[in-house]
Amino acid sequence: MSGLFIAIEGIDGAGKSTQAELLRARLEGTGRTVLSVREPGGTALGESVREVLLSRGEIPIGAEAQMLLFLASRLQLWEERIEPALHRGEAVVSDRYHLSTIVYQGIAGTLGEPRATAVCREVLGRRRPDLNVIIELALEHCRERLGEGGDRFESDSDLLARASVGFSKTRGIPGDRIVRVSGEGTAKVVAERVFEEVCRVIR
Ligand code: TYD
Repeated sequence: MSGLFIAIEGIDGAGKSTQAELLRARLEGTGRTVLSVREPGGTALGESVREVLLSRGEIPIGAEAQMLLFLASRLQLWEERIEPALHRGEAVVSDRYHLSTIVYQGIAGTLGEPRATAVCREVLGRRRPDLNVIIELALEHCRERLGEGGDRFESDSDLLARASVGFSKTRGIPGDRIVRVSGEGTAKVVAERVFEEVCRVIR
């Protein structure tokens, strides 16, 4: 079997982590070996970067530096874990990938979509998913699920709203395959929708 790389995307509270987990189980059910990763993180460097990035405002981080830190974590994850797994013919399911950077730092942040997209394109090249699945769920439902608190990003309610718009309109990097799946309904129902989309890529 050839390698398969799927990213699950969406705003916080949309259910993307649950869906990433359900997709892993589903793919394993088809006999595939699956590597699950999350962004930022997944490597020693990535987890350290995650701590710095998600700390609630204790460390000042400029917009460009923030984007580059996400990308540094991503490159390390690719090199250390994703590429070797794909090389072995495994499937990789990533909880977030570059669309999160384009949406959060670009569209919802201060950098703008063109800048974030250009940098992601330059830095990542072909090191991108075969399919990006965006889980879409109404903002108020996501807010209900998140409740109070959260990390640097989750605690910013306006950012969440801008990210929601961002995910609905981004086209990613030219060549990206993006599908949007409704996150309404039970986790099981949503998982069916996700798997249908994944099957289109496997065939
Ligand atoms: P998230 O997947 O929500 O982690 P958890 O479910 O453990 O809270 O990711 C944390 C935050 O990082 C999320 O609010 C979005 C933000 N983020 C970016 O701003 N840019 C990126 O490139 C990535 C990968 C995440």
